[in-house]
Amino acid sequence: MDQIELKENIQADFPALNKKILKNDLIYFDTAASAQKPSVVINELSDFYLNHYSNVSRGVHTLCVEATFKYEDARKKVQKFLNAYSENEIIFTKNATESINLIAQSYYQRYLKSGDEIILSVMEHHSNLLPWYFLRDNYGIVLKFINIDSDGNLNLDHFETLITKKTKLVAVTHLSNVFGTITDKKLIEISRANDLHILLDGCQSISHIKVDMQEIDCDFYAFSGHKIYGPSGIGVLYGKENLLDELPPFLGGGGMISEVTYDGATYAALPNKFEAGTPPLVEAHGLGVALDYVESIGMDKIEQYEKILTEYADQKMADLDFVINYSKSKNKTSIISFNLNKIHAHEVASFLDVEGIAVRAGHHCCQPLMKLLNVTATSRISFGIYNTKSEIDYFIDSLTKCKNFFGVK
Ligand SMILES: Cc1ncc(COP(=O)(O)O)c(C=O)c1O
Repeated sequence: MDQIELKENIQADFPALNKKILKNDLIYFDTAASAQKPSVVINELSDFYLNHYSNVSRGVHTLCVEATFKYEDARKKVQKFLNAYSENEIIFTKNATESINLIAQSYYQRYLKSGDEIILSVMEHHSNLLPWYFLRDNYGIVLKFINIDSDGNLNLDHFETLITKKTKLVAVTHLSNVFGTITDKKLIEISRANDLHILLDGCQSISHIKVDMQEIDCDFYAFSGHKIYGPSGIGVLYGKENLLDELPPFLGGGGMISEVTYDGATYAALPNKFEAGTPPLVEAHGLGVALDYVESIGMDKIEQYEKILTEYADQKMADLDFVINYSKSKNKTSIISFNLNKIHAHEVASFLDVEGIAVRAGHHCCQPLMKLLNVTATSRISFGIYNTKSEIDYFIDSLTKCKNFFGVK
């Protein structure tokens, strides 16, 4: 399946892709950092501000009713997209980072005491490390890390050896932002068999593979809208309703209360309990529109298409003996991290930029993993629905040009 079969002339839906970098057409291989936005999302954001804008839930006037309807409609769309049981399971935040911090703090208050254990993995994004480091540093929670094998898959045998009676929660990435590895479903089975709660960092999986909360059966799932063609400034926390019900609120303020007196407060029911202050209402609407757009193409098709692109890039890169490919898992998609022999990742990324190709170079917010790989940085290409095989061909030619430019054998 090539581009034409995913959606005809899909690149025309994304105005940013018209940009020229020097004289070259832009090739955007940085969707893992943030996806480009289709016109339908951009237009809806301005329509909201032009025609429907007001704060939500706090008034009876027409604009407030319209804005509230759009905000709550976005929640329904997220619920449907994730196949969550209830809208009460969808909490809007500003990004995945906030979603994970919310769970870390609220979960600690409800379920943890000093000496309890949480299991992470060695390939987590800083956003799924720091919130747990806070618990370790402030409250004596013990953190353990699942190793990876030489192909960048989580080592589930090692995971099992880490579990003790004190283990309460496992919090891992659903799709690695460095390797593209998809987390094996067995992780959930092992966690369930050991009565552990499970948080999946869905920042990368949300746009590349079909995610179904009822089927995956995790307890918490976090993602950011900007990774799935929606605006920045909107995140989602999915949580099973019975668990979210039990957790205390994270932030306090307007919108999350039932009653406030000088002596204290009672809290609103879900989902409002976790949405203190004016929410990212326009951004939530933008996310809903982005999900509609993605669904109009179909997640199954997108998943299949991007796997084909990834395999194609993998094969082409394997033909280049000066490329070190770190994304070796057979169970991966859409993300490939690599280095060119003896050329620093930033030099590679700068060279490719001049060629018109946007790639990411650095530690990808995974500094501990970079240490483990014994590198300071990698370059990373990541695909979205607008990328094509011919872009990959151009990229492969540019890698050879880059090697020749730096005079490396
Ligand atoms: C795997 C993963 N987790 C978490 C994040 C953090 O996302 P945000 O900065 O939108 O909160 C990212 C973003 O790159 C990511 O790739």
